[in-house]
Amino acid sequence: MAGIFISFEGIDGAGKSTHIERLARCFAAQGRAVTLSREPGGTDLAERLRSMLLNDPMDPITEALLAFAARRDHLTQVIVPALQRGEVVLCDRFTDATFAYQGGGRGVDWDMLQTLERWVQSAGPLVQPDLTLWFDLPTSVAAGRLLGARVPDKFESQPEAFFDAVSQGYARRCAEGAGRFARIDADQAADRVWDGVLDAVRRRGFLT
Ligand code: TYD
Repeated sequence: MAGIFISFEGIDGAGKSTHIERLARCFAAQGRAVTLSREPGGTDLAERLRSMLLNDPMDPITEALLAFAARRDHLTQVIVPALQRGEVVLCDRFTDATFAYQGGGRGVDWDMLQTLERWVQSAGPLVQPDLTLWFDLPTSVAAGRLLGARVPDKFESQPEAFFDAVSQGYARRCAEGAGRFARIDADQAADRVWDGVLDAVRRRGFLT
């Protein structure tokens, strides 16, 4: 596919959002069409599934299935068509979040998630991001950033031990898919974090 697919990952409070928007402006300034999206979400159906996933009590496998159902709709309706048009797709979270949150955090079987990943993301070849920016920072720092920021959702109100397990899930995914990942040290001033983002994107030749 002609486009570029970049996902942004990290525990809640890692500070991805400003960097996603800044990167979108950089690509647009170079004349690229950019699709900005998020998971769970990105379509009407997937946004409704997001609301259930973030608010309703359910067992961990149900969480994983809703995340993948939302992903399937998002992929077929938004991501794959945008990539086929040659656009840059910047996505706030993607499958690594399911491995980290439902796998690492909730304990859903890793093999089961890998099976779902293959089923859901193989409308032809397996659709994976070309680059995943993993905003890594200590759980305690992220918790401090979230304090008082807003009313916490189901995940944001989890104890620090949950986010330690989520971080371990990200680390495992990073080790398994090393070439696709750029680990960004997010425990730095925002401008330094941004330097890390730009460096990772440029090193792959996606921005000049
Ligand atoms: P987030 O992306 O942090 O958005 P906001 O900034 O609006 O809070 O919130 C999405 C939450 O959903 C986050 O806590 C991680 C969780 N999540 C999963 O548990 N599984 C998934 O597959 C995805 C994509 C997200």
